[in-house]
Amino acid sequence: MSDGFDRDSWERRWSQVLREHGDKVAGRPPNAYLVADVGGLAPGRALDAGCGHGAETLWLAAAGWEVTAVDFSPAALDHARATAGRIGPDVADRVEWVEGDLGRWTPQPHRYDLVCCLYVHVADSPTEMVSRLASGVAPGGTLFVVGHLPVDPATGEPTPAAGQRQVTIADARAALDAAAWNIHAEERVRPEAGTGVDAVVRAVRRR
Ligand SMILES: C[S@@+](CC[C@H](N)C(=O)[O-])C[C@H]1O[C@@H](n2cnc3c(N)ncnc32)[C@H](O)[C@@H]1O
Repeated sequence: MSDGFDRDSWERRWSQVLREHGDKVAGRPPNAYLVADVGGLAPGRALDAGCGHGAETLWLAAAGWEVTAVDFSPAALDHARATAGRIGPDVADRVEWVEGDLGRWTPQPHRYDLVCCLYVHVADSPTEMVSRLASGVAPGGTLFVVGHLPVDPATGEPTPAAGQRQVTIADARAALDAAAWNIHAEERVRPEAGTGVDAVVRAVRRR
């Protein structure tokens, strides 16, 4: 039974959006939290889990990261790959696009200097997914997770993420052993009034 955010639903959503607004989507800027919070890191290997249209993947690759970009929507991956191709080989050759389900896809242990996962709804346990993705972070590496809360705490009204289970700060803290990680986590109010709050988690694995 679909919860509205399973693979087929995302594939239909992406196919329609990209058919109608493909050029606009290809021009989307990378996530502002990612740019502000990890922009100063030295490039290495990165994983973008739930890469969607690829704006963050392409920004990382342009900054010199070797990126593994995972999503379960072939339409989103095809579009992102085509955008990378138009940018050119300097960026396109630094990305491996992987069709995979983050409900079970598991990174190679300690492979990545940066693992990011932005706005991914998980059907099962967000804590389990964060724990699995965190297993891919190398010693000294960074885990960067953002989730949009489904209810605006200021108004009690549903946000555009209503009905989804995105990662919360409590989920991330439950997934990460505080003895092994330096964790910075905060809720940030979105700039557009009424759109609610994001949980932003940046955790660095101690050496
Ligand atoms: C809201 S979009 C966010 C895309 C991108 N991270 C961003 O911040 O713009 C969520 C993305 O996660 C993907 N996704 C959701 N659940 C997934 C799963 N179980 N496995 C792989 N990808 C998934 C969707 O296809 C979609 O591209």
